[in-house]
Amino acid sequence: MSSRSGVWITLEGGDGSGKTTQAELLEKWLTDSGHTVVRTREPGGSEVGHLIRDIVLHHRGDIAPRAEALLYAADRAHHVATVVRPALERGEIVLQDRYLDSSVAYQGAGRVLDATEVRELSLWATEGSLPDLTLLLDLDPATARTRLDSADKPFDRLESEKADFHTRVRDSFLALAAAEPERFMILDAAQDPESIAAGIRSRVATLI
Ligand code: TYD
Repeated sequence: MSSRSGVWITLEGGDGSGKTTQAELLEKWLTDSGHTVVRTREPGGSEVGHLIRDIVLHHRGDIAPRAEALLYAADRAHHVATVVRPALERGEIVLQDRYLDSSVAYQGAGRVLDATEVRELSLWATEGSLPDLTLLLDLDPATARTRLDSADKPFDRLESEKADFHTRVRDSFLALAAAEPERFMILDAAQDPESIAAGIRSRVATLI
């Protein structure tokens, strides 16, 4: 993306790793310091994406793995083209819950699809767009499970997957971070939220 001047930050991690809390804290810090922030997410960060989110998260019954990967990629293509890229071109900060690393980790973790192919699909969908910084909130799935169990919220289709699936998701995120150390910052999501937020702020300060 040649004409962009904003900063694009994505948050990744398993369900229950505290992405939303950290996105809220970071958004507040950035807006308090005078920046314009676009808070968004995948799936569902656009109007079309909202419809796709409903299918991938709430459809009862199976979705063929390639169809599921294509639905996430379709959401991503439309979201990047209509929300993310215009905001970056306006010089704004895009703070985004989940991006293509989630597709590699979740759709790849089912063992049916090849992780490289899943990544290539998303890169095709977005004309190769990658964030400036990806914050990985790393947490062991057992702790995440306990957090989710205590939250007063029904599980969606992917949260209900078995424990070994979530272990593969975690391992996949860590492998992605190891492969791209400049883009990723790994955070220990078992720490208290304020310490995590402080670590994030010091890194983000270098980008704005
Ligand atoms: P999430 O964004 O965590 O929403 P909520 O906080 O409301 O539960 O849930 C999205 C789910 O979708 C999550 O389980 C991960 C999954 N997902 C994929 O499998 N592939 C993807 O490409 C993305 C973006 C999400």
